[in-house]
Amino acid sequence: MPSDLTEVPTDELMKEIQRRLDCNTKEEKRVILIGPPGCGKGTQSPRIKYEHCLCHLATGDMLRAAVAAKTPLGLEAKKAMESGALVSDEIVIGLIEEATKQPECSKGFILDGFPRTVVQAKKLDEMLAKRGQGIDKVLNFVVPDQLLVERVTGRWVHAGSGRSYHEKFAPPKVAGVDDVTGEPLMKRKDDNAETLKARLGAFHSQTAPVIEHYAAKVVALKADRPQDEVAASIQAALGSK
Ligand code: AP5
Repeated sequence: MPSDLTEVPTDELMKEIQRRLDCNTKEEKRVILIGPPGCGKGTQSPRIKYEHCLCHLATGDMLRAAVAAKTPLGLEAKKAMESGALVSDEIVIGLIEEATKQPECSKGFILDGFPRTVVQAKKLDEMLAKRGQGIDKVLNFVVPDQLLVERVTGRWVHAGSGRSYHEKFAPPKVAGVDDVTGEPLMKRKDDNAETLKARLGAFHSQTAPVIEHYAAKVVALKADRPQDEVAASIQAALGSK
């Protein structure tokens, strides 16, 4: 939404005010999105955030921001990310611990790309238990590996917001330009077929066991379907409240 509210049409403004009032009646939710690279976690997160009044915490986005800002943490994470390996558990656990304390997370959060190892999952459980909280649902985005190459190599992103597009499946209104800001889109350094192999390897060996860890809370989604169908199955899994 633009910073100058006088530019916002009244009906849009009223809709947003109503949505925020409705947020007061929503139940708290703590949701994990898990799945291989390119399965659609980042694509679906803004809708879930909007509908359930949650904050969206994507460790990949946080790490990319740290790399771009050349912080000590970013410099440490850069090499692992560019090779498709995982960044150390300590780094990402620290990021999530801080981020979940933000006021925007008061109704709960969507964790996108975290936890990615069983060590991370256990630390998360401990952290939440200390706050008298726990994970409510784990949405497992199931997509066969062979479909992910096209998804990842055709992706374009808006660096500032993390919005992602696809040259075939979700093109921007104007090629190469973000729909909202008009700024240029970019390619992620790890979005190539070679690095994807390493990322998929890390997913199957280190992240798939996290699905077992949360077995009782997992809902499997057919994430190889069109985006609106995936969104509908997420809605069914999370309910409207
Ligand atoms: P991260 O940024 O988390 O990458 P990822 O898990 O590999 O996931 P992606 O962002 O690639 O995929 P996505 O599921 O969000 O897909 P999207 O919605 O964009 O992590 C990057 C790196 O950071 C890691 O490799 C690691 O080094 C490090 N890292 C991060 N977290 C870490 C952690 N916890 N521990 C250790 N290291 C960590 O969709 C992809 C494309 O498909 C888009 O173009 C989209 O438009 C399109 N698309 C989406 N849905 C559909 C659909 N239904 N049909 C057709 N196309 C679709």
